[in-house]
Amino acid sequence: MPAIEIKNNIYWVGAVDWNLKNFHGYAMARRGTSYNAYLVLDDKITLFDTVSEKFKWDLYHQVRSLVKLEEIDYIVVNHVEMDHSGALPFMVDKIQPEKIFCSSMGEKAIHGHFHKNDWPLQVVKDGESISLGSRNVHFLETRMLHWPDSMFSYIPQDKLLISSDAFGQNIASQKLFDDQHDLNLLLSEARHYYTNIILPFSPLVLKLLDKVQEAGLEIDMIAPDHGIIWRSHPGKILQSYREFASQTLQPKAVLVYDTMWGSTEKMVKAVSDALAEEGIDIRIMSLKSFHHSDIMGEFSDAAALICASPTHNNGMLPLMADFLTYMKGLKPKNRLGATLGSYGWSGEAPAAMARVLEDAGFELPEKPLRTKFVPAHEQLAQCKELGRSLASAIKARTGL
Ligand code: FEO
Repeated sequence: MPAIEIKNNIYWVGAVDWNLKNFHGYAMARRGTSYNAYLVLDDKITLFDTVSEKFKWDLYHQVRSLVKLEEIDYIVVNHVEMDHSGALPFMVDKIQPEKIFCSSMGEKAIHGHFHKNDWPLQVVKDGESISLGSRNVHFLETRMLHWPDSMFSYIPQDKLLISSDAFGQNIASQKLFDDQHDLNLLLSEARHYYTNIILPFSPLVLKLLDKVQEAGLEIDMIAPDHGIIWRSHPGKILQSYREFASQTLQPKAVLVYDTMWGSTEKMVKAVSDALAEEGIDIRIMSLKSFHHSDIMGEFSDAAALICASPTHNNGMLPLMADFLTYMKGLKPKNRLGATLGSYGWSGEAPAAMARVLEDAGFELPEKPLRTKFVPAHEQLAQCKELGRSLASAIKARTGL
């Protein structure tokens, strides 16, 4: 892809990873992704972020189409995770920058990753500004969004916020701007990204949004480090982040399950029938068909999670253990839960799953439910009863 001018003398110079499916080894990127870097042409020519090491030559050629690399004065490192810093040693070598700006935690992370003592690092504090000539860059520390080193760069003269991972989405496209895409699709991908990358830090997101609002920053473009740039709907993604971070819940239940011989699946369907009859929006997701990150994307606005697994070797099936470990780490708040499953002789799985949900802060209105071998009509009626009880709790929680 060629370099694209996003503002007068400010260019996107990133790389598009069209074929990426596995993002960072733990989340699915169904539409690929991009590693966005930005070049500002001013008295001090400045590169904001780099790309993954694999795409270092893409970045090189993008930049080279605009300037010679040795003409670049500054590099700003908003975030040291390798998808944005992998090409940094290569670019530092080519550019020989006068200064590399980063946060205090960024300095530590750069040393920890690259072990270079001769780079001209300059730590910037929260609220500090530097001049590029006709523009200033104002730095906002965004510690733990989503790494300790993370920061934003704001250019007031262009009303441009370069926002690192925040407000990003995993989308590979030659169409760089939000108004070139379906807005609902973008927001859905932004939600998926938020849930899998940023959800644990939601209280900090709310504080940051307040801070940005209180500072009165005029923003007419948000340029994240992944996916599409928000030039027509920056207010919409800011508002959506407030909703994501507030964990506003819908009368919706995600039923996640694994099954060996179909008995647990029968139980899930009985529970889901009752939920649907009560007007609850349902998603039935087999762990053999859906990646844990896609399940969390669906669960992001759901009031309830129903986990179902048969008992295997005195515990739950491995895919359920994987999902619960992942889900718990993302720290969803204010949720309801239920557990169930079939068993042959010991039957520990529903109670084991319930313990994980309770440890994760879920409220479980009903006791774990289990069925020996294959559920008959009576056991399926118990499952429907559990579904009706859970529906009442969901309605109470969401005001349906
Ligand atoms: Fe896109 Fe946290 O790196």
